[in-house]
Amino acid sequence: MKKVAIIGAGNVGATTAYFVAKQRIADIVLIDVVEGLAQSKAEDFLHAGPLQRYNVEITGSNDYAAIRDADVVVHTAGVPRKPGMDRMDLMKTNAGIARIAGRAIAEHAPNAVVIAVANPLDIIALALLRETGFALRNVVGMAGILDSTRFRYFIAAELGVKPEDVNAMVLGGHGDSMVPLARYSSVGGFPLTELLDAETIERLVKRTRTGGGEIVSYLKKGSAFYAPGAAVAQMVAAVVLDRRRLVPASAYLRGEYGHRGIFLGVPVVLGKNGVERIVELDLTADEQAALDASAEHVREGANELDALPA
Ligand code: LAC
Repeated sequence: MKKVAIIGAGNVGATTAYFVAKQRIADIVLIDVVEGLAQSKAEDFLHAGPLQRYNVEITGSNDYAAIRDADVVVHTAGVPRKPGMDRMDLMKTNAGIARIAGRAIAEHAPNAVVIAVANPLDIIALALLRETGFALRNVVGMAGILDSTRFRYFIAAELGVKPEDVNAMVLGGHGDSMVPLARYSSVGGFPLTELLDAETIERLVKRTRTGGGEIVSYLKKGSAFYAPGAAVAQMVAAVVLDRRRLVPASAYLRGEYGHRGIFLGVPVVLGKNGVERIVELDLTADEQAALDASAEHVREGANELDALPA
C-alpha cells in the first residue's frame, strides 16, 4: 500500500484525509503539533471504517518521524485567513512552519512528492522546495484545481447544468489576481464564450477570484476546507496512481510563460513524480498581461520570503 502523510490535522488536513481515505488508494498518516489532535482524527476515522469501508490504515502522531517513507506528503499546517486578510498576510507565520516541515520531510520521506496547500501556497511551495532540497518537479502547489472547481461550479449554476460537464481553467497565483481563462473553459465540449455573454462571464470570473474569501467572511475564524480537501485528494490520486492528469497546479517555472524562479499556477501533467511536464498554452495579450500581474504578486511574496531570517 502507498503511504500519504498529511502535515496539519486541522480542517483542511482532516478533510483531505477523508477524501483520500474514500479513494482507498493509500494508508494515511496525520501529523499535528497539537497534542492529541491528529490521534483523535485518526481514531475517529477508523471508527467510521466499518460503515464507510475505507480499508486503509489511518494513524495520527505528533512526531514527524511517523511520515517515514511516505510516497506523498501534503503540507496543510499553518494559520488560516481571517476576514479582510490577503493570503499573503499569512506568509511569515506559515513560512516558518513550512521550513520546519520541509527539513523533516527531507529527513524522513526523502523520496516523497510534496504537495503544498497552506497559504500563501505559491510561496509555501517555494519554502518547501528550498528546505527539502528536492528536485523541482517533486514539489507542487495545490490551488489550480480548487480555483477551477469553483469556476466550474459557478458556471454550472449559472447555466443550470451538471457541474461535471463543465471544464474550466484557472491559472496564476492562488490569490485575488488569479487568472480564470474563459477561452479555455467549456461546457459539454462547447466553448464557454459561445454560451454566456462577456458580462456574465466577467461576473463569474470575479466570483471565482473571491470564492475563498467569501467562505472566510462567513466563517470569520477560518477558511474553506471541503473544496480544498477534494482538490488535494484529486492531486494525491494522480500521483499515487500515476494518472498523468492534465490539470492546473502551482509549479516551479524556469522560463515557461515568461517567468522563472517562482511557483505559479500553470497547466501540468501530474503523475508519480509530481509535475511530469508543464504544458504551455498560447495566451492572448490580455491573458498574458493578467498572468504577468499575478506572477508579480507572487514574486513580491517570494522576495518577502527571501528577506525572512534563516
Ligand atoms: C481558499 C483558501 C483556503 O481558497 O485559500 O479557500
